Amino acid sequence: MTDQAAERHARQVQAWNGPMGEQWAASEARTERGLAPVLAALMDWAAPSPGMRVVDVGCGAGGTTLALANAVAPQGHVTGLDVSAVILEAARARLAETPNVTLTLADALSWRLEGAPADLLFSRFGVMFFGDPVGAFANLRRSLKPGGRFAFAAWAPLAENPWMDIPYQAALSALPPPAPPPPPSDPFEPGQFAFGNPGRVLRLLHDAGYPAARVRPFDFTMRFPGDDPARTAAGLANMGQTGRLMRDQPEAARAWAAEAITRAITPLVQGEWITLPARVLLFDARS
Ligand SMILES: C[S@@+](CC[C@H](N)C(=O)[O-])C[C@H]1O[C@@H](n2cnc3c(N)ncnc32)[C@H](O)[C@@H]1O
Repeated sequence: MTDQAAERHARQVQAWNGPMGEQWAASEARTERGLAPVLAALMDWAAPSPGMRVVDVGCGAGGTTLALANAVAPQGHVTGLDVSAVILEAARARLAETPNVTLTLADALSWRLEGAPADLLFSRFGVMFFGDPVGAFANLRRSLKPGGRFAFAAWAPLAENPWMDIPYQAALSALPPPAPPPPPSDPFEPGQFAFGNPGRVLRLLHDAGYPAARVRPFDFTMRFPGDDPARTAAGLANMGQTGRLMRDQPEAARAWAAEAITRAITPLVQGEWITLPARVLLFDARS
């Protein structure tokens, strides 16, 4: 791994163990509701079945791990792997009564499954944060049995995700000049949209030793409460790319940006909801 990749990777591990991780753990219920269509699509795509050994990579607060544990029960087993102590704590609380799960605090770049290899590696949005994606994919492959599958979901590019792009552009337009350049300046910088180029991800998987891989887009709708647009805007202002942009701004600028997001989403209220299009890429690689 190059020094630059190691530095990027360390930044991500630190971020997931800091405020970003705390925020993810705290917003678990809301995130789970919003991302339920992705979980359903990815479960269909990955097809976990009773008796399988599965690894949930970057398992987060436990929602995906629980769905997998139910799908492989009673004999199957799921290992939830995550690098964030604070997020894994939320998963431990949620999965305390689920017998066929092991939760492990470790880095996908270096962790190795003990015992028999897995039938399936699974991840909803847990793989775009690797500073050295080829190294991490190759390392994970060592825990997968020959012919096993690695099925994961990653976000399509920001421009194809109006649920994030609309608040992000509104926030950018409201910030005092000179507006910061839209991060990430390097499109492949680890982060929410790092795997938006499907051809690149297929190449990374190939270079990591997966002889066959495929991808397909999955479109769905993100629904946010429409009764109080200002409150919904405050939530959107904290998420992903927009959250990163806002974090370094002074208090007044944050307030202007939140107002701009409110103005952008208010015309989109339909009945109880604000609905915005979202696109995800589903990948499937064979070991
Ligand atoms: C966007 S969250 C997704 C969580 C969960 N998969 C879900 O869909 O709810 C990304 C997760 O990946 C984890 N993660 C990031 N880098 C990781 C690494 N190198 N090894 C293991 N987990 C990692 C983070 O701590 C975080 O929990």
